[in-house]
Amino acid sequence: MKLFTPGKIGPVELRNRSIRSAAFEGMGKDNGPTQMLRDYHLSVAKGGVGMTTLAYAGICRSALSFDTQLWLRPEIVPSLREITDGIHAAGAKASIQIGHCGNMTHRSTAGGTPVGACTGFNLYSPTFVRGLREDELKEIARAFGDAVRTARDAGFDCVEVHAGHGYLISQFLSPYTNRRRDRFGGSLDARMTFMRMCMEEVMKAAGSDMGVLVKTNMRDGFKGGLEIDDCLTVARELERLGTHALVLSGGFVSKAPMYVMRGEMPIYSMTYYMKQLWLKYGVRMAGKMMIKTEPYSDLYFLDDARLFRRELKLPLVYVGGAVDGEGIEKVMGEGFEFVQMGRALLREPDFVNRLAADAAHRCDCDHVNYCIARMYSKEMRCHKDCPGLPRRIQKEISDIKRRNGIKD
Ligand SMILES: Cc1cc2nc3c(=O)[nH]c(=O)nc-3n(C[C@H](O)[C@H](O)[C@H](O)COP(=O)(O)O)c2cc1C
Repeated sequence: MKLFTPGKIGPVELRNRSIRSAAFEGMGKDNGPTQMLRDYHLSVAKGGVGMTTLAYAGICRSALSFDTQLWLRPEIVPSLREITDGIHAAGAKASIQIGHCGNMTHRSTAGGTPVGACTGFNLYSPTFVRGLREDELKEIARAFGDAVRTARDAGFDCVEVHAGHGYLISQFLSPYTNRRRDRFGGSLDARMTFMRMCMEEVMKAAGSDMGVLVKTNMRDGFKGGLEIDDCLTVARELERLGTHALVLSGGFVSKAPMYVMRGEMPIYSMTYYMKQLWLKYGVRMAGKMMIKTEPYSDLYFLDDARLFRRELKLPLVYVGGAVDGEGIEKVMGEGFEFVQMGRALLREPDFVNRLAADAAHRCDCDHVNYCIARMYSKEMRCHKDCPGLPRRIQKEISDIKRRNGIKD
């Protein structure tokens, strides 16, 4: 299988072309790592991946949307080192996704009024948001550079900049969230200004020894958001800025969350673990309307990703519904240099070793998305690894399977 040949991201060589995608583990404590986070990534590294990615780490306090998220700062370098040392000892490389959530947070987590491209109200959080001033944007861009230097100190080989899914860089790119009248808003070129500032700092800090991936949208996934031609322009700009590899994704958490992962969101499971009662019952009532189901199929981003492959020269990372040897070889055969997997490696941390033993292996993730529902309040886990789930959650899972034709 081509998957099992080495590949390079900038200066970093991976033993094979499989990467654990940035899928939020919900395993941090006080915005720092835990033994549980270490154990999970070590199991993935021992399970054969070329590289594992620690999910979303905030580059500063206002970048955080969950208390269980990492905040990439010098204080946590020693405990992150323990994780990267373990990953390296298992023969894999280590990456960390760095980002700023913009308007998708709350006062208490962000340490002040949430900030974004524009002042307004974000119904999804729900929260009031303050538009960022130019001096603050420069500060955030510098914080991206600092985060890369901290990642290097902590032993990471690569960073993955989160420029998609409706996070801050994507909030600037999208006309839906960016209605600014200054040099950061207006034309697509102007809306790319903030991304350019961040990437210049990132590339400078990465120097000649770190790999830089950027996770970017191929479409925002809703009417009024970025469509494929705009996203291609953004991708070309990222290529021009020196990015080593692009991770091709799509969706916008505050508007089209399931476009990212596809399938149905188990709303009852999502709200079951929520502690704030107003949020719990609010989401239970409005969740179905706000979180629209997007049909899942294997390799669901491949049609769009092919267009990017044709138009770009830099290494591309395919992500989205890669769950078996056949699908992964198809992706490799179409010229994608790497493949990322989220749910397959959540369900089976040794999925890559299983593929090495049996090229026809298919992981048994059923895409009912309980893992995503749970992520908002608890550590990441597949429902198949949660014996004794409350009866109502079990019923919700069976109903989703029935509605979406998912077999046991
Ligand atoms: C539980 C969960 C958490 C996720 N958290 C993140 C995240 O923090 N950052 C990100 O860019 N994508 C996140 N994703 C999206 C995945 O990285 C990936 O793009 C998506 O799940 C499609 O890949 P898959 O079909 O292999 O799961 C998450 C996905 C899941 C299932």
